[in-house]
Amino acid sequence: MTRTVGIGVIGMGWMGEAHSRAYRAIPDRFADAGIRPRLVVCADPVELRAQNAQQRFGFERYVTDWRAVIDDPAVEAVSVTAPNGMHLEINRAAAAAGKHILCEKPVGRFPEETLLSAQAAQEAGVLTFVGFNYRWAPVLQYARQLIQAGELGRLTHYRGRFLNGYAGNPNGFLSWRFEEAQGLGTLGDLMSHAIDMAHMIAGPITSLTSDREIFIRERPIPQPGVGTHYDVGRADSPRGPVTNEDYVSALVRFANGARGQLESCRIINGSKCDMSFEVHGVNGAIKWSFERMNELQLQRRNDANPAEDGYLTLQSGPAHPYHGHFNPAWAAGLGYDDLKTIESYTFLSSIVAGQQGEPGFAEAAAVARVQQAMLRSWESGHWETVQF
Ligand SMILES: NC(=O)c1ccc[n+]([C@@H]2O[C@H](COP(=O)([O-])OP(=O)(O)OC[C@H]3O[C@@H](n4cnc5c(N)ncnc54)[C@H](O)[C@@H]3O)[C@@H](O)[C@H]2O)c1
Repeated sequence: MTRTVGIGVIGMGWMGEAHSRAYRAIPDRFADAGIRPRLVVCADPVELRAQNAQQRFGFERYVTDWRAVIDDPAVEAVSVTAPNGMHLEINRAAAAAGKHILCEKPVGRFPEETLLSAQAAQEAGVLTFVGFNYRWAPVLQYARQLIQAGELGRLTHYRGRFLNGYAGNPNGFLSWRFEEAQGLGTLGDLMSHAIDMAHMIAGPITSLTSDREIFIRERPIPQPGVGTHYDVGRADSPRGPVTNEDYVSALVRFANGARGQLESCRIINGSKCDMSFEVHGVNGAIKWSFERMNELQLQRRNDANPAEDGYLTLQSGPAHPYHGHFNPAWAAGLGYDDLKTIESYTFLSSIVAGQQGEPGFAEAAAVARVQQAMLRSWESGHWETVQF
């Protein structure tokens, strides 16, 4: 039996396109599930973007005011892929209208707004999901299974990082990403993924001490509606101030007693998208980086034969969760957009089942509480407790 779910997408930039593409892929990649996304309406205040997206992805119509998406009775679920500053307002309106929500991270401009989004969704009883897409790499899902089965033993320490050079060019435009009024900088953007990954792999963070810095203090002012955050201006373009952080680091303690370090940066040279971690337990260790997302490094302590006690490389394959939906072959790897397909499939599956999935707004709220402790630590210069 086929179940159709009416979809609206709000904000047709990079992520709006990625979500639309992902919904379209579900009847192909997850054919057995019988879920048929109906692309009802897409919204963007830049009409050309909305119109292009309608034609490209096959939406039934486009609008320039996102409220028309929420008001459409054919829309059962919305993807919120507008800038962070819009997330709370859209989430509240969507929840009040009874729409299920897949919101990009961060779920609010500031941690408080993420908590308010979570509250609104809970009160309205709608199902939620969050774009913490790195979770969905098949070898990572397998890593989580290994850790939950106790294969590494008690966890002792964890290092997570998201080092990305997307803003490394000092002529990169001063988009909404660099304005404090529009939300946090790297703490909301890259660090939210790193915190969520730490929670998924090593469990909740309970206390921390954190630092931050702005390394590139001015950028060229962009023309409204033109380009994405990868576009650059001229060296002589008029400039404005960067008002949120480029860099964040933290020492953290986990509820299970493990100790850890987190680091994220958006202007770094060298690393392109090093969203990675290394986790250690008393019986072994695992490490992974998105830059080689189809490989998992696994070490099992081997006291009987220390000569072979070292990291082994596992290649992604059909024995790992979801991989077989994309390819029957070992080492025929998935890419970023495939993670978005798994994400949107899992979201729609939760709607069809009528059950809250993970990561939803509860997991985003857990990330937000860690971010709140980081913000407090920037002010106090001390260790801070994560307040639940
Ligand atoms: N999960 C990930 O890996 C990932 C990657 C990139 C971005 N993101 C998140 O996705 C969101 C969007 O980022 P992006 O890179 O697609 O940005 P983008 O700037 O490429 O696109 C944002 C779009 O929203 C539109 N917009 C602006 N105001 C709007 C409004 N009031 N209503 C509807 N649309 C509006 C803009 O015109 C633009 O087309 C952000 O929250 C960001 O943090 C997540």
